[in-house]
Amino acid sequence: MKTGGAHIFSWPIRHPELVEGSVPLFAWAMTPGRVLLTQTQIRARVQQLGKSLTRHYRGKRPIFLGVMNGALFFLADLVRAIDLDETEISCVRLASYAGTNSTGKILGLDALDDSIAGRHVLIVDDILDTGRTLSALVARLKKLGAADVKICVLLQKRGKQEVPLHANWIGFKIPNHFVVGYGLDYDGRYRGLKQVRILTD
Ligand code: IMP
Ligand code: MG
Repeated sequence: MKTGGAHIFSWPIRHPELVEGSVPLFAWAMTPGRVLLTQTQIRARVQQLGKSLTRHYRGKRPIFLGVMNGALFFLADLVRAIDLDETEISCVRLASYAGTNSTGKILGLDALDDSIAGRHVLIVDDILDTGRTLSALVARLKKLGAADVKICVLLQKRGKQEVPLHANWIGFKIPNHFVVGYGLDYDGRYRGLKQVRILTD
């Protein structure tokens, strides 16, 4: 994912669908700065979320659907923090047009099929920003016949949401900064950081 302003430093973009792979000229200047959430804070919150999800989903044989790649670590840790043997794990890889296209088209939804019909689906994602990605995903899952769709995000940015969408479980509400680490990337970098940090230039 690129920051909203990152393409200011890029060559003019003729093919928005290729934006994910483009390299901003001054990407090197953006580095992870202040730690927003420590490993300990994340770990403790994931355990709390796991307990709440265990209570809610007992007997419902849920599918935890991780939105890749950002939800990679969150999904893995969350699944190990719940106590429900019958939980299924699935992933979907979604990409938006990186803010260069105001239609908010989300790529990757076609990969979902009707195997989720009648099921309780929990979407697991790294961050709720504008809400466009998740609202498109919720709509698709409902169209495919999911019995119930709920959302669990590690982070929600304050004051950024553009579409009305309710996240049922939220790890942390954070200020409006671009953040990296614990699965969140900047142009594919910094996902492996153990903390969530603010990207600065
Ligand atoms: P949306 O704007 O809510 O549709 O968010 C789309 C996706 O952009 C999220 O799932 C993240 O993968 C990514 N994203 C949004 N904000 C950030 C951020 O601060 N850091 C890294 N990725 C982000
Ligand atoms: Mg994402």
